[in-house]
Amino acid sequence: MNSYKIDGFDYCELYVSNAKQAAHFYHSTFGFYPIAYCGLETGSRDRVSYVLKQNQIKFLLTSPLNNNSEISKHIYNHGDGVKDVSFTVNDAEAAWKESIERGAESVRKPHLLSDEKGEAIIATIKAFGDTSHTFVQRNNYNGVFLPGYDVFENNLTGDPSGLIHIDHIVGNQPNGEMQTVCNFYEKVFGWHRFWTVDDKDISTEFSALRSIVMANDNEKIKMPINEPADGLRKSQIQEFIDYYNSPGIQHIAMTTKDIINTVSKLRDKGVQFLETPKTYYESLTERIGEIDEDLDQIEDLGILVDKDEKGYMLQIFTKPIQDRPTLFYEIIQRKGSNSFGKGNFKALFESIENEQKIRGNL
Ligand code: FE2
Repeated sequence: MNSYKIDGFDYCELYVSNAKQAAHFYHSTFGFYPIAYCGLETGSRDRVSYVLKQNQIKFLLTSPLNNNSEISKHIYNHGDGVKDVSFTVNDAEAAWKESIERGAESVRKPHLLSDEKGEAIIATIKAFGDTSHTFVQRNNYNGVFLPGYDVFENNLTGDPSGLIHIDHIVGNQPNGEMQTVCNFYEKVFGWHRFWTVDDKDISTEFSALRSIVMANDNEKIKMPINEPADGLRKSQIQEFIDYYNSPGIQHIAMTTKDIINTVSKLRDKGVQFLETPKTYYESLTERIGEIDEDLDQIEDLGILVDKDEKGYMLQIFTKPIQDRPTLFYEIIQRKGSNSFGKGNFKALFESIENEQKIRGNL
């Protein structure tokens, strides 16, 4: 039992080389809005951050303002990527203290942030590689993000794309490290193993992976942990590790209530998705039965469908959103199913392998 409660994902912080331009990208393609800002104008001397929001999803895009900070070193090592996955908690000090007692390494001790809008306490521990977890506790805080951030004034137009909340966030590990990281989440946070696949379930002619989904007690947090498995060629997980130079966050899955509408909008705005082979749709109805959505539209948009005993789910994956083949996004609509799309892994892998081949990494 934990002495504190995790309510859900809070924000994801990405270290990027040009936060101003990245903020524009997240607005113009995914339909996020910048709501808060800190930088030189607000008294932040070493970094600039934009908070981007859509419904319950928040991204913090951070760039360094000098060349010898941990932020610039992180970008030098990993390229643009996710630095921190934060959790909303009712007691950040207890969460930090308990994690440290159970073997986690501290990155930032609990400290109080305050401004005229109220107070928050944040604390950070190491997760895997250079990735960390921050505990966020707001006390009667009525600003838009956290103390220290100004409201970002803008006259941006355009509509949101219907992304609602974060469904899961996936961490890639080097071969042989998956169990160690899952043990860490069990020991430090008391999380449980929600779902597992091994290389017998998900392999193609060329590559394979193993994955364990870790979940907290209320299952609002789900973090699949992957590692590569031996195949004839290089696993996509190994390709990630090679370019990120360490374990790290591979993808963030965001939910929608209308995947056809959302993916149509994203495609119109220039988001690139992995291609689904046409053969995937030939026996789709046989595999999954009747669904509410129009199958022609599903096929046109390249959306994947999978089912389990509780229902079905629709999902699609973007191509990497920076030049290195590292971080990408998943768009997911759940209609009863809590699964992670095991039935889609083969089609998905074949599509990723095709991209790897074009990159010369297969
Ligand atoms: Fe996923």
